[in-house]
Amino acid sequence: MSVKITDKVTWVGKIDWELRTFHGEEYSTHRGSSYNSYLIRDEKTVLIDTVWEPFAEEFVETLKKEIDLSEIDYIVANHGEVDHSGALPLLMKEIPDVPIYCTSNGVKILKAHYHQDWNFVEVKTGDELEIGKDNKLIFIEARMLHWPDSMFTYMTGENILFSNDAFGQHYANSKLFNDLVDQAELYQEALKYYANILTPFSPLVTSKIKEVLGFNLPVNMIATSHGVIWRDNPTQIIEKYLEWADDYQENQITIVYETMWNATRRMAEAIADGIMEKDKNVTVKLFNIGKSDKNDVITELFKSKAMLIGCSTVNKSIMSGTAAVLGMIKGIGFKKKKAAAFGSYGWSGESVPMIIEGLKEAKIEVMDEGLKLLWQPDCDALEKCKEYGRRFIDKL
Ligand code: FEO
Repeated sequence: MSVKITDKVTWVGKIDWELRTFHGEEYSTHRGSSYNSYLIRDEKTVLIDTVWEPFAEEFVETLKKEIDLSEIDYIVANHGEVDHSGALPLLMKEIPDVPIYCTSNGVKILKAHYHQDWNFVEVKTGDELEIGKDNKLIFIEARMLHWPDSMFTYMTGENILFSNDAFGQHYANSKLFNDLVDQAELYQEALKYYANILTPFSPLVTSKIKEVLGFNLPVNMIATSHGVIWRDNPTQIIEKYLEWADDYQENQITIVYETMWNATRRMAEAIADGIMEKDKNVTVKLFNIGKSDKNDVITELFKSKAMLIGCSTVNKSIMSGTAAVLGMIKGIGFKKKKAAAFGSYGWSGESVPMIIEGLKEAKIEVMDEGLKLLWQPDCDALEKCKEYGRRFIDKL
């Protein structure tokens, strides 16, 4: 399938309705995804990015229906990750001499992935490629957004920013444009994408957006490599990114717990009661991490001003889901969030100090020494939990 998006630009990507995990099993994609590739036909013909390798044959077939492959003058590889470069080996068998424009890191990454000596042309920010009488492509390096090779390509005349992963969403849909899809779904997926993939690079997001805005280029569309093309008020997602990159938080507290025989769950619920009693305005959400999607939980933590992490003690340690989410929190590098730990235990009770240690390693501000309870909580113990919740609000 291909879709004409302007007189000169055609979408030639692949919608992956089936995808349920991305980056191996690391990122859940409840709504599938798409790998957006674009064919520009001006005096020169340019292909921007390709698709993931399992769809390479279908991709090349689609391209052949659009154009004689020998008419392609240039390929632009905005990013070497396999979901965008995966069809290059098959394509390059057919057009081996066509130059591939990418950053110097892009050359290294593409060579390291495919071990081919293709006709690479290195570009850097401000380099231009003439594609017609009135139109050119301008390259903008976007290092570490989110890989060292990431790059944006701007097309003059049509005023399209091909942003690759930035501003994208893992969101399969048949409509292609932001104004034609369910806005709640769109923003849920855009936020999840930012929270899980881009948060570690937030300072770079802010500086890169300011740099691009400084070029004063008109933007009619932001053509991402996943999900929708932003054509209706395209700068809305830029504004959102600036907001999200600025240590975003809502008036929300998220309680993430893991429990063996429900004692820690009952603690979590009593703490939540105490919080809600003390602060009627704050949104409180609870997740049993053992039963929840970890990327969705990370998205909720991204939105939160504070988090409570609770876990039973098992084998002098914490349970596997809690260990995993603490690892993710550390890797993502949330800033300006406050936290506390709690948990039930039977005899040794290591979970609370271990959670606190994990939070401190993640550079999250821990508010106190946490709350430990022996075996199942009785009425007094549950009251202690509620009081702990009330005091937690006071400490924020
Ligand atoms: Fe969509 Fe970084 O690849």
